[in-house]
Amino acid sequence: MDLRTQYMGLQLKNPVIASASPLSSKVDSIRRLEDVGASAVVMFSLFEEQIRHENAAFDHLLSSHTESFAESLDYFPNVAEEYEATPESYLTLIQQAKAAVDIPIIGSLNGITNSGWIDYAKQIEQAGADALELNIFYIPTDLMESGADIEQRYIDILTTVKSVVSIPVALKLSPFFSSIGNMMKRLDDAGADGLVLFNRFYQPDFDIQTLSVNPTLQLSTNAEIRLPLLWIAMLHGRVNASLAATRGVHSHVEVIKYLLAGADVVMSTSALLKNGVEMLKTFLYGLEKWMEGRGYESVSEMRGVMSHQNVAHPEAFERVNYIRILESFKMEME
Ligand SMILES: Cc1cc2nc3c(=O)[nH]c(=O)nc-3n(C[C@H](O)[C@H](O)[C@H](O)COP(=O)(O)O)c2cc1C
Repeated sequence: MDLRTQYMGLQLKNPVIASASPLSSKVDSIRRLEDVGASAVVMFSLFEEQIRHENAAFDHLLSSHTESFAESLDYFPNVAEEYEATPESYLTLIQQAKAAVDIPIIGSLNGITNSGWIDYAKQIEQAGADALELNIFYIPTDLMESGADIEQRYIDILTTVKSVVSIPVALKLSPFFSSIGNMMKRLDDAGADGLVLFNRFYQPDFDIQTLSVNPTLQLSTNAEIRLPLLWIAMLHGRVNASLAATRGVHSHVEVIKYLLAGADVVMSTSALLKNGVEMLKTFLYGLEKWMEGRGYESVSEMRGVMSHQNVAHPEAFERVNYIRILESFKMEME
C-alpha cells in the first residue's frame, strides 16, 4: 500500500501529521510521534506576544529609564510560558528535533501584525525547520475595521514572510471570511504553499456565579469535521496550494473523509492528547484496511474523489441540498 504524500513539496511517508500542540514541546515527545507513524510534526506556536515580551525586556535593558516596563510586560503576556519556551529555546528545540528525527519539522508562528515578530520566520528557517505554518489568530474587535482591511492584513503578513524565507509557508486560517473560497484563492495567488483549514478559534464562556469570562479550551469532537470537509472539497483542484485538514480527526474515518474531499494531509491533536499518541497508529491501520477493501493502491488514487469537482452530484454541497434536507426533516416529523 502506497501511503506516500506530498505536502508543500515535502515528501511524506503518509498523510497523517501531528498538528501544533504541547505534544511537540519536548524532543522526546516529537520522537514518540515519529515512532507511532506521524509523517511530520508541526511545532507548537511561537506567539507574537512572546516575542514582544522578549523585545520589551531587551528595550528595557537599552533604556533603563522606562518606568512603564512592568506594565508593558503585563500588556504583552508571556503566553508561551505554558510551553516553557522563549524564542531562543524554541529555536533550539527545532534544531534538536531536526537532529533527533527523520520526519519534517514544521515551525509555527502565531501573530496578527506585520511587524517585528516576523523576523523569527527567518530564524526558524535557519534553525532547520522544513516549512513554516503561520497561524493568524485575529479577532477583529474594532467595529470600524472592514472585511477588506482584515483580508489585506492576512495577505500582507503572508507576503512579508514569503519575502524573507525560502522554505514553504502554510497559513492556518479561520473560516470567518465572507467569501472563504475567494480569500483562499487570494492567498493562493499571493504565494501560500499550504492552506490549513480550519483553526479552532478561542471562544470564551461565561461563569454565571462569578460573572467572569472563562477562558477554557475544549478538545474537539469528530462532529467538527464538516466545515473543513466542505471547504477542502470545494478547493481541491482549484488552488495550487497544498490543502491540510485540521479539526475533528478522532479515527481513521475522518482521515479517509478528508482525503476523499481532497486534503493532501490530515492533522490531529485533540485525539492524540485525549487517547495518547498511540492512537495515530490506528489511523494509519484503519486507512490501509479501508483502502485494501476498496481496491485503492495509493493515497493519490483516492484523494479528491469526492471533491466538488469530482463528485457525481456536486449540488450535494450546495444550497439546494440544504432545502432538501429541511424538507425531508419536516416529512419525518409528520
Ligand atoms: C492544547 C492545545 C494546544 C494547541 N496549541 C496550538 C498552537 O500552539 N498553535 C496552533 O496553531 N494550534 C494549536 N492548537 C490547535 C491544533 O493544532 C489543532 O489545529 C486544533 O486542535 C484542531 O485539531 P483537532 O481537532 O485535531 O484537535 C492547539 C490545540 C490544543 C488542543
